Amino acid sequence: MFPIVKKRQLAENIFLFDVLAKRVAAKCQPGEFVIVKQDKRGERIPLTICDYDREAGTVTIVIQVIGGSTKLITEDLNEGDEFMDFVGPLGNASDLIEEDLEELKKKKILFVAGGLGTAPVYPQVKWLHERGIYADVVQGAKSKDFVILEDELKSVSGNLYVCTDDGSYGFKGLVTDKVKDLVVNEGKKYDHCVVIGPMIMMKFVALLTKELGIPTIASMNTIMVDGTGMCGACRLSVGNEIKFACVDGPEFDGHEVNFDVLMSRNSFYKATERERDHDCRMQKEAKALETAATV
Ligand code: FES
Repeated sequence: MFPIVKKRQLAENIFLFDVLAKRVAAKCQPGEFVIVKQDKRGERIPLTICDYDREAGTVTIVIQVIGGSTKLITEDLNEGDEFMDFVGPLGNASDLIEEDLEELKKKKILFVAGGLGTAPVYPQVKWLHERGIYADVVQGAKSKDFVILEDELKSVSGNLYVCTDDGSYGFKGLVTDKVKDLVVNEGKKYDHCVVIGPMIMMKFVALLTKELGIPTIASMNTIMVDGTGMCGACRLSVGNEIKFACVDGPEFDGHEVNFDVLMSRNSFYKATERERDHDCRMQKEAKALETAATV
């Protein structure tokens, strides 16, 4: 079992958990992910690692309520409670980590984080910062209330540009508007871009950076089941080749990913998610009745 040592609400329906998982914390790298399960009836949920503390043996994950299972986790689990499963680290570390450090130091790196994508962007920017590399970050959210981990990102990035769709905080507009502004109007040059966030956002950032000639890596948050390359649920098309996000990724060349197919596959399960939401509510009521009956 994996105890929760800290739980913090970051925004409406977005929660951060520090989980004691010593073996994962000892080995994990930025870019990798874990699969968590609340209890024996819980769904397996893939989550990219947001941070880790090797000494304390903790791994930080950020969960957004998007359906029944995530709702149950964020409502039921508090400090002192435990995840039944916390499997990882899975996938591959960020490409940047594999690069020669001296070559990396010569590069101007831009991260683009959308919504919950801020959580997996943070450990990569932090890793670079610890090695004296200051990457710029464009962070997008729909409004001020949904800007998460801003202080943490600010402390490790070169420049942090926060954008909100409604203009309630920072730059008013989409992350693509800000990237265009930086490169075209301000003349900033970037040799490498990493984008993590909603699929639609990654698609448009990749289209823009292709036009601007900036090589771009996208971290794919596909549907996953086993996380070990066996089930095929996370397959995607990259440069006309079939890849599996869990074992070949989660990072891929953003200019080669077929985002449209992925988006249509993701929406395919919306009805099932609604049913699961209903099942979870029923499950919760049954559990409450069971507890009441035994008291
Ligand atoms: Fe099953 Fe990737 S999650 S193959």
